[in-house]
Amino acid sequence: MPDTLTSPEFIPQTVVPPEKPLPLIRGLWQTIANPLHVWPQAMYENPYHGVKWIGRTFHYFRKPEHMKAVFLDHADIFRKSQFQKKLVGPALGDGLLTSEGDHWKFQRRAASPAFRIEALRALVPAFSTSAEATIERIRKKPSGLAIDMQSEMQHATLDVIVETILGGADPGFGYSRIAGTVEDYMQVMGKPDVLDLFGMPNWVPRPWGGKGRRAAAALRAAAANAIARRRASGKTHNDLLGLLLAARDPETGRGFSDVELCDNVVTFIGAGHETTALTLAFTLYLIANSPDVQDRLLREVQDVCGDRPIDAAMVEDLVYHEQVIKESMRLYPPASLIDRVATQDVDLGDAQVKKGDFAFNLIYVMHRHHTLWDNPSRFDPERFSLENAKRIHRFQYMPFGAGPRICIGMKFAYMEAVAILATLVRSLRFLPNAAHKIEPNIRITLRPEGGMPLFVEIR
Ligand code: HEM
Repeated sequence: MPDTLTSPEFIPQTVVPPEKPLPLIRGLWQTIANPLHVWPQAMYENPYHGVKWIGRTFHYFRKPEHMKAVFLDHADIFRKSQFQKKLVGPALGDGLLTSEGDHWKFQRRAASPAFRIEALRALVPAFSTSAEATIERIRKKPSGLAIDMQSEMQHATLDVIVETILGGADPGFGYSRIAGTVEDYMQVMGKPDVLDLFGMPNWVPRPWGGKGRRAAAALRAAAANAIARRRASGKTHNDLLGLLLAARDPETGRGFSDVELCDNVVTFIGAGHETTALTLAFTLYLIANSPDVQDRLLREVQDVCGDRPIDAAMVEDLVYHEQVIKESMRLYPPASLIDRVATQDVDLGDAQVKKGDFAFNLIYVMHRHHTLWDNPSRFDPERFSLENAKRIHRFQYMPFGAGPRICIGMKFAYMEAVAILATLVRSLRFLPNAAHKIEPNIRITLRPEGGMPLFVEIR
């Protein structure tokens, strides 16, 4: 049964950084297993270091001034790396997340209207409905056993993305059809490949990627079928696919081709559900261990929403919910490492970057950096109160990236996470699970090893 509740001074669990840098071979092996085990304690205390490796320098950035330089001031020089494209490219093709240059600009312009606040407000009922369905699933489970809230949140956010992209109407999508495929893809493709770390060219066979490649092909086939069915139906829909089908570049009048539509449907599924699910799973772990925070959430949802379904206006008033979610993404940013490669030499003062060098932008480390945050390991949603948030440097907190490539789904994600969290907290009470150790692991996203089993009571 659950442990007794912990103190308000709760320090959430994570990987303990090594005291000293690891020897080379162990470091490489651990980079594949979990990079959090490689980054030594000193990286959380000093601002920068670079490592030379097969002819290039890897710059490990974790201070706001470097982030601003990479993501904003020199965004045209720091491009997405081949590492990233290799990890997600087989599924996402050349969609919004992976493309560059004019092709990216066209797709960003064309997709933007679908992510404006007015369009997003209409989606809030889909968020609340998926949370209600989660509560129903939990009600049916035997009481007294821990429930894996990571997989429950994956289920809820996949329902949301299918509903909001495809209007929920497509028989080829839906949780039971694609959840396993997405999981296989993340398991196999979500790791840096050992051959890539040694700079091996693409033609060197990588036999271990078969399962991931098959999963990527299956996802793309399901998306292509959904698009073909939609085109054949001749009907217009107000969901994201409908908006993408109707989208035209305001400068050239060009619309999306079928391949581009497929790239982007898979991109929105990949980029849009896993990240929000992880945010919610870690948030539930944090509030399960901080009963005072959980009680305050409950009071807020009762005051703002009563027992009515949560709508868009209410989401905007659930300000403490948003604070809690922001603090959760500080401690466990789903995109913990965002890498770039320099396409020209650039002088960043304390870092001399040469063409071809890698910029490893360590969001996780910056979010726990001792010079930037007071008591960084502590869970404290007050950091993001209206007053306190003014003191946070714009580039010190970057769960959604920054600059021109900032997450297009940021508002979508906040609204979704707030609506789902509020709906859950109103009906359920989350309790800690002392038997489960929290071990976040970077596999494209930051995932809890072994899921997020928590005890849950119906209120
Ligand atoms: C908590 C949830 C989310 C987090 C933490 C997150 C994080 C990020 C980050 C860090 C980037 C920038 C990557 C880079 O610079 O290389 C990004 C880009 C992107 N995200 Fe999100 N995201 C979330 C939710 C969503 C949602 C809900 C959607 C769509 C429905 C979405 C779609 C995208 C797309 C398409 C891009 C590429 C944008 C571009 O390059 O123009 N994300 N996201």
